[in-house]
This record gives sequence, C-alpha cells and structure tokens, in this order.
Amino acid sequence: MKALILAGGKGTRLKPLTNTLSKQLIPVANKPILYYVLEQVAEAEIRDIGIIISPETGQGIKEAVGDGSRWNAQITYILQSEPLGLAHAVKTAQDFLGDSSFLMFLGDNLIQGGVKSFVKEFTTNKVDALVLLKEVPDPRLFGVAELNEKGEITRIVEKPREPKTNLAVPGVYLFTRDIYQAIDRIKPSWRGELEITDTIQQLIDSGKKVRSHILTGWWLDTGKKDDLLEANRIVLDEFMKRDLRGEIDAASQVAGRVEVGEGTSIENSIIRGPVSIAEGCQVKNSFIGPFTSVGAGTVIEHSSIEHSVILESCRISGIERLADSVIGRSTEVIRGGQNLKAVRLFVGDDAKVEL
Ligand code: G1P
Repeated sequence: MKALILAGGKGTRLKPLTNTLSKQLIPVANKPILYYVLEQVAEAEIRDIGIIISPETGQGIKEAVGDGSRWNAQITYILQSEPLGLAHAVKTAQDFLGDSSFLMFLGDNLIQGGVKSFVKEFTTNKVDALVLLKEVPDPRLFGVAELNEKGEITRIVEKPREPKTNLAVPGVYLFTRDIYQAIDRIKPSWRGELEITDTIQQLIDSGKKVRSHILTGWWLDTGKKDDLLEANRIVLDEFMKRDLRGEIDAASQVAGRVEVGEGTSIENSIIRGPVSIAEGCQVKNSFIGPFTSVGAGTVIEHSSIEHSVILESCRISGIERLADSVIGRSTEVIRGGQNLKAVRLFVGDDAKVEL
C-alpha cells in the first residue's frame, strides 16, 4: 500500500495568504495542515508516500516536508505541471504508484481519528475503491453521492447545483490500479478538470466494487477563511495540552489548555485556553481568549484577541477587540495616534478588511 498526497493547486479561495504560502502549509494550531495529513498516513503504517506538487508552490512544500524521515516515511515528489484535476494528478503519479493499491489524501483535508481504520476496511474487504462520505449542510460545494437501499453508491456528481443528498465526498479515497483505466475513459468537466468523482462513477458503471463509509467524526476542508477558523477551533479543542515553556510573569494569568513556546514572554496578560502561542513571541498588557493561535515571533501588546489565527512575525498593538480574524505573516495591525476617525491601511492584494 502506498499513499498519494495532493499538495498542488493554487489555493484561490484562501488568497491573499496563498500568494506566498501554499494552502497545505497554512498552520492550524501552529502546525501546517499537511503535517497532520502526514501523521495520519504514517499512523496507517504507510511509509511509501508520493506528494503531488505544483511548479508555483512545490519548493515550499519540499522545504517543509523534506525527506519524510520525521514521519518515518520515504517521500517522492511528483510535479503536476498544470492543475488539470485530481484524476489528472493520479495519472501523473502512475509511475510512482505502479501496481500498488493506494490511499489518496488531499493535503488540505483533515479527518477526525485518522484514516487507519479505512485502510484496514479496504484491504480486508478486497474492494476496488473505498470512498468516504460525510453529511454536510451545503453539499453543493463538494462531490455528492447517491446511495441505494443497500448503502452502495449508485451515482456521484461533482458540485451539483441541486444535490440529491447531503452526502459529500471528503478528500480521502482508497483505490486499486483499476483506477487508471477509469481515468482514461473520462473527459474533462465543465471546469476543465479530470474529476476524481467522474472517475469513481466510471468505476461504478464498469461494475467495480466501490464501497462507501459514512464518517461520523468531523471532517475539515480548510480551503476558505471561515473553514480555517473552524479547523483551528476544532483542532485546538481536541488536541491542545497545557505546556508552558516561555516566561510568564507573576502579574499574568494563564488558564486552561494553553501552549506557550520556548523564548516567549507573557507580561501582565490574561491567556484563556485553548490557545497556542508559538516560540519567540511577546505578549504584553493583553488578553488572548479561546481558540486563538499565534505564530512564532509575533508581538501582541495592549490588545484583546479571540477566535483568530495570527501567523508568524506579526505585530498587533492597541487593538481593543480582534475576533474571527486570520492575519497573514509579518502583518502589522496597529491603533493609530491622534485622529481616531481615520483608518490608515497598507494592505496587500486580495485582502479583506472589515471595520
Ligand atoms: C475536490 C473534489 C470534490 C471533493 C473535495 C473535498 O474539490 O473534486 O469532489 O468533495 O475536493 O475537499 P475541489 O477542492 O477541487 O473543489
């Protein structure tokens, strides 16, 4: 069994963060999403892992993941020169995958409890494909499946305008080498991509055994700002442990599950978990409330923040209440001096400022 992790794509829905950082490397609770994916693949005892990268962001992915030894895995990088769809990515990886069955995992998806049990279900039942499904409130954003009375998938449609069910297809799939023939038979969709959903439909139509498994735990697709905040909230809630390494002065209160990295100083501040503050930060005369992650080297002073993701090397100063926000790297958010009515901005492309 091998694994194929998809870490290409342009991350259009997460601009401007993705102008300089690939979406799979955006941190959730101060850890890149792709690391959670790699941990879950390693936990399923798959060591031979291919990672699909794009020409634009591939270098960043290589630097972050390296040779995979951190996960006790061996990584092969596979360049997909154009974003022509998930099935196209599989086809691009055919030489690497060979005759092996494989787990395909989209590098910006997270599944509660990992994927080990699905890999086992797939190998024990000797099926041709195993597709996860999850009930969601708005299935129009995803691949959507229809089932018969026996619970078998009869139809699978990519982002239907009028979905027949609320069963979305998360980005975790198991396939055998039968997939390549199916890919050869499909045509690009309206968005010009070779869709994995059309490929699965092709497997079903040619009589292959396609099983589904309905997820009961959470599934996070971190592709948009609000999804990212939700992912941060859920991951902090589930995994955060109290681990205080920095210096916390006597005037501060740190309550609950809070992580404070090496070299971080907390002065005269209140931190209420779950919160993750990375290394080398300075927090002064501030309040940091639940579900907030603060990246390395960030300075927060005279401010109050909650339910937000602040990336590395930022400066937040004099902000009375910052909430539900995602702040990119090296950004300054500062309360100005005398003229309180004027808002002065120096904001990059594709940013969104709500005042
Ligand atoms: C892709 C798949 C879709 C699936 C989704 C899960 O969508 O095409 O079937 O439900 O991932 O994240 P995309 O992210 O390419 O829009």
